[in-house]
Amino acid sequence: MLSKKMFIIGGTASKTIAEDLSKNLKIPIANTISKRFPDDELYVRIIDDVSKEHVIIIQTTYPDYNIIELFLLQNAAEEADAKEISVVIPYFGYARQDTKFKNGEPISAKALANLISLSADRVITVDPHKEHILDFFSTNAYSASAVPEIAKYLKEKNIDLILAPDKGALERAKRASEIIGCDFDYMDKTRIDGTTVEIKPKKLDAQNKNVAIIDDIISTGGTMAISIQELKKHGAKKVSVACTHGLFAGDAIKKLNSAGCDEIISTDTIQSDYSKVRVSPSLTPFFNRLV
Ligand code: R5P
Repeated sequence: MLSKKMFIIGGTASKTIAEDLSKNLKIPIANTISKRFPDDELYVRIIDDVSKEHVIIIQTTYPDYNIIELFLLQNAAEEADAKEISVVIPYFGYARQDTKFKNGEPISAKALANLISLSADRVITVDPHKEHILDFFSTNAYSASAVPEIAKYLKEKNIDLILAPDKGALERAKRASEIIGCDFDYMDKTRIDGTTVEIKPKKLDAQNKNVAIIDDIISTGGTMAISIQELKKHGAKKVSVACTHGLFAGDAIKKLNSAGCDEIISTDTIQSDYSKVRVSPSLTPFFNRLV
């Protein structure tokens, strides 16, 4: 029996998550149209009647054109007189500019949060780069974690050691290690600039071990590539890299493979060939009580 009071709307960036949540929660997916005008502007339409209904819009805000689609879907739901609008942002693009690092910069995460909040009763995002970005939303905002799902995947791979690429990511590694039942540690990373990182040699017991490095994001792959090289120097048998958000910018995949990476794992917050872990089980509990 499908709930008659709710609809899921899957933006083009987040179709698999919409389908999974629809199955998990037994909520129908609303029929929508999304197409481009000849000048490339976006047209969306929610075909089902969602008036007086609770709609859950799911859309990653990356790359930029998906942000526009999210805004238009939110407005379409509001204009259609939806009773309640929940917005799920599997990957919250722009979250890394979460402060003014230099004078004259925007706080991009805040700029986006302000606009998304205008037509949302609640927002849920997965593994935001820093939790404090939730405070930028002027509506109820929550985060879900994909770490348990990633850890379940890694548990099948006989991992001996889980590593965080820097101390800031240690909690994530610890949580995964508890689920897997293995050791955890961190590496000593310093970011030089947007594309260069330095991993200082650190005493690590990686000899003959099957190691997985876990991070929230893989972007250029620089952090992971240098960590893999360091671990291989320490005698690691196998090194896998796992992240929630696989951006894989530019030649990231090539960089990881050249560094000797044995497996690349990411979730479906951003769809790619490496989306081996699905995040919907982490999101389902938020809505169970509302169905
Ligand atoms: C940084 O603090 C993040 O957690 C990631 O480590 C970073 O975004 C990865 O970037 P890249 O793949 O470009 O090294």
